[in-house]
Amino acid sequence: MTAEGTRSVRLTGWGRYAPAQVLTNADLERMVDTSDEWIVTRTGIRERRVAAAHETTASMAAVAGLRAIHTAGLEPGDIDLIIVATLTPDYWMPSTAALVKEAIGNTRAPAFDVAAACSGFVFAYATASAYLAAGMANHVLVIGAELLTRFLDYSDRGTCILFGDGAGAVVLSASSEPGTPVGIEMTTDPQGAYMIWLPAGGSKSPPSDATVARGEHHIRMEGKETYRFATRTLASTSLAAVAKAGWTQDDVDLIIPHQANVRIIEAVAKGLDLPMDRIYVNLDRYGNTSAASVPIALAEAVNEGRVKVGDKLVFVAFGAGFTSGAVAMEWTADPARGRTADEAVRAEDVSVRLPVDWDSVDPIPAALAEILARPLPGHMDLSDVVPGEPEHAHSSTR
Ligand code: ACO
Repeated sequence: MTAEGTRSVRLTGWGRYAPAQVLTNADLERMVDTSDEWIVTRTGIRERRVAAAHETTASMAAVAGLRAIHTAGLEPGDIDLIIVATLTPDYWMPSTAALVKEAIGNTRAPAFDVAAACSGFVFAYATASAYLAAGMANHVLVIGAELLTRFLDYSDRGTCILFGDGAGAVVLSASSEPGTPVGIEMTTDPQGAYMIWLPAGGSKSPPSDATVARGEHHIRMEGKETYRFATRTLASTSLAAVAKAGWTQDDVDLIIPHQANVRIIEAVAKGLDLPMDRIYVNLDRYGNTSAASVPIALAEAVNEGRVKVGDKLVFVAFGAGFTSGAVAMEWTADPARGRTADEAVRAEDVSVRLPVDWDSVDPIPAALAEILARPLPGHMDLSDVVPGEPEHAHSSTR
């Protein structure tokens, strides 16, 4: 507690996980009528990651979460609230957060999901901050995780080129140190409710042979309307958060925006009159990972040395709903802390418990089967190399 009895909130841990398999624009050229040139010039995306058959949103979330806990110098048992933002949960129930809690080995935290699409991480961050400020928790694990590649229509070139899989996480901790300025802004505009949506599977249209035949289990999007909303709202939401922190946009050292489309990000830079080197972009490698995109970008920006103590940061996102959210905050943690997290927490050591006597049908969309069967990038297949003497062991020079 501070002298006045109020608690400040600090970001103490960060971590990310991206599945190993890569889906390139060249791969998509073989699936739909598109081209690398179109995708790169219209979106900036070059490749995205695809979760393997054994991976789920919860498994990726657990790896990112454990990495964030490692960075914070905490144990999983220190966490007293777990919030997972996702639009692609493992199941309708239980929550993905409940599965993550067990997978990370925590026994005490309440755990729940937040649904605000691509703005989900920022909404979850705001929720965690409020819990901490109210004294209802001391260390909150906030995760954004998505497995979008299983919800795409691989005959719809307007959507299937955009999205990828992954997870990012932060730990927010209550502190008795005096707080630094924080500004949080969130908006919801239901006028955009059907601009990005997934028609079937909910109570309005429960899943059935008929909904599947109509392809209503796939994400649908009005790209142009969403683009217009995004360019408008990212700038205005950022500015509102910046004003609430008591800054002007010139004070901002780095904006970490939702990684949907580089043209949207460039429009925001122009709207805010900020150079692109003050805006972090990694969507060329991951595409749009929805709620995971801001925390993955944050972890990478910090680990790459783009953030130092005292920097003024803005995390800003927009998404289905339409929703938007921004957090303006000052960085206080040692940026070097996150660099060992990937080695310390290996994905193969983390698992999510499955139900007894039940297994899912093959979760992999037919269009991705060949891609997921490929050797992983960087993997060298040595199975046909016969052990024996090197070819030149008996050369004439001996
Ligand atoms: N490859 C080739 N051509 C394409 C492709 C493709 N993948 N997709 C669309 N086209 C064609 C269209 O059919 C159209 O052709 P036409 O002129 O013959 O009709 C032409 O390209 C132009 O299409 P537009 O839709 O006008 O393309 P635009 O420049 O708007 O780019 C895009 C489309 C990339 C989807 C853009 O609108 C966008 O980024 N919108 C925002 C999407 C977004 O960020 N969504 C995430 C929301 S977050 C969440 O909560 C999930």
